[in-house]
Amino acid sequence: MRSVLIENPGEVRVDTVDDPVLPGPDGAIVQVEQTAICGSDLHFYEGDYPLIAPISLGHEAFGTVVEVGSQVREHAVGDRVVVSSVAGCGACDGCSTLDPVTCVQGPVIFGCGVLGGAQSELLAVPAADFQLLSMPDDLGAEAALLLTDNLVTGWAGARRADIPAGGSAVVMGLGAVGLCAVRSALALGAETVYAVDPVAGRRATAAASGAVGLDPSELGVLTEQTGGRGPHAVIDAVGSDTTMSSALSLVRAGGTVSVVGVHDLNPFPFPATMALIRSVTLRSTTAPIQQAWPELLPLVRSGELSTDGIFTHRMPLEHAAAAYARVAERSADCVKVILEV
Ligand SMILES: NC(=O)c1ccc[n+]([C@@H]2O[C@H](COP(=O)([O-])OP(=O)(O)OC[C@H]3O[C@@H](n4cnc5c(N)ncnc54)[C@H](O)[C@@H]3O)[C@@H](O)[C@H]2O)c1
Ligand SMILES: [Zn+2]
Ligand SMILES: [Zn+2]
Repeated sequence: MRSVLIENPGEVRVDTVDDPVLPGPDGAIVQVEQTAICGSDLHFYEGDYPLIAPISLGHEAFGTVVEVGSQVREHAVGDRVVVSSVAGCGACDGCSTLDPVTCVQGPVIFGCGVLGGAQSELLAVPAADFQLLSMPDDLGAEAALLLTDNLVTGWAGARRADIPAGGSAVVMGLGAVGLCAVRSALALGAETVYAVDPVAGRRATAAASGAVGLDPSELGVLTEQTGGRGPHAVIDAVGSDTTMSSALSLVRAGGTVSVVGVHDLNPFPFPATMALIRSVTLRSTTAPIQQAWPELLPLVRSGELSTDGIFTHRMPLEHAAAAYARVAERSADCVKVILEV
């Protein structure tokens, strides 16, 4: 089959690799229809994580089941399915919460070297009943892809920010995750959402959803705009030293910083005394994909949570190298790309 591979930072290629085999009797093979590039894939592309051997990239996909193991109950060959980007064993106490993050075997993300990459023609899915969502006929491609990861991530970031009804929240970073966090914070009852990104076009996209755009150099105005106290919550959809440090100092005393952006592998200089004196709550999480589906699917299908305008490009899988280069520019016009398989 064809698959997107990375061997060195900045070098993505499409190559032929062995077809995946059924990962046990509870597993399935999904023929990928469409897949997408995520900011998390860029951590490999930009050299944030070491690459010991070539890995097959990608963790966002929907497609059709082409093979199932004997223990799969909920899905059959021919079903159209959305695949969770995060996998759990599906059988342990942790997975009984539906949150793969709490799997006792540890959550595993597709396309990071252990499981196959979703930017491939075929994807082997272990514990298929746990990892797969039957795709309703009225669910569009963009919504399906966002439900594999970025919408759940933005939603979890906003939920865990504990924004009081009528309160204020800041979202740092307006890639697909940050844009989803902006929409989620507003849907969860935030009165004012400040959307921060150095790219003006991305701020404009957030403003079209009802947020107030701010360049990172303008963060100083937030104290005054929140009556001298600072915002109730800051959602960090970047996860850098810069954004986490500003989030911790910007948030009001007693407020919450909710991190979903992924930091590099270096330690973060946490301002422990300042956070303690100001009673700041710091939360961070990998997206609880399967747990959020029952809540998010109705909101997405009814249009209460819009998934429009986040994908900006569609390209064939064969053009993955060009697509990665475009996404890594983090420009105003190219935010998120679908790869058609
Ligand atoms: N927690 C999870 O489960 C989960 C899931 C998906 C993605 N992620 C992570 O979320 C992050 C964002 O992903 P994405 O796909 O939206 O990526 P992205 O790279 O498209 O978006 C990052 C955005 O942050 C902006 N930015 C950079 N520096 C900034 C600063 N100092 N202040 C404000 N904005 C700044 C960039 O201009 C860009 O628009 C990545 O780190 C990704 O790995 C986490
Ligand atoms: Zn992702
Ligand atoms: Zn488990």
